[in-house]
Amino acid sequence: MAKSMMDRDMLKVLYSEEQIKARIQEMGDELYEQFKDRNPLFLGVLKGSFIFMADIVRACQIKSDIEFIAVSSYQNGTSSSGVVQITHDLQQDITDREIIVIEDILDSGNTLYFLKNYFMTKGAKSVTVVTLLDKPSRRVKPVKADMAGFEVPDEFVVGYGLDYAQQYRNMPYIGVLKPEVYSK
Ligand code: IMP
Ligand code: MG
Repeated sequence: MAKSMMDRDMLKVLYSEEQIKARIQEMGDELYEQFKDRNPLFLGVLKGSFIFMADIVRACQIKSDIEFIAVSSYQNGTSSSGVVQITHDLQQDITDREIIVIEDILDSGNTLYFLKNYFMTKGAKSVTVVTLLDKPSRRVKPVKADMAGFEVPDEFVVGYGLDYAQQYRNMPYIGVLKPEVYSK
């Protein structure tokens, strides 16, 4: 494929399309072993998880259904405001459901800390946190991933669903932008 305008904004690639695909298959296999015969609800956190969600559910062929919630805590910047707002709520009752939360990245932990409590107050039986990326160095809330694809250093990453100012979500790999992109 030809190098796109977006590729030119990229300083480096952290994880290639092939590496991501292979890791997601491993995660899918693990989830299969854990949840076969249990009919869990895959619950994607929008918007960042939309590509990961599509890939992980196909990598895990178990009887399950799918739901989304959308939250926002960012004001088009690169750090979290700490205040989590639900911008699109659950469209179904999750009482007694085993929830597998699908998240793009676990950073400060504000989002997942809020969501785990929210799902429990809505009556979930269990909440399992599955994140593609984990940035443990930035954690401010006591929340851990039950399963994480890759650990990333304290750098702002984009691609494979993750954005900078709503852009770059459609890059097929995960990378770091050139510093000049942020000052544009
Ligand atoms: P947290 O609430 O700080 O854990 O962050 C959760 C959300 O912030 C993620 O779901 C992402 O949407 C966003 N986020 C955190 N770090 C990054 C990053 O490095 N790149 C893009 N988005 C990020
Ligand atoms: Mg997100």
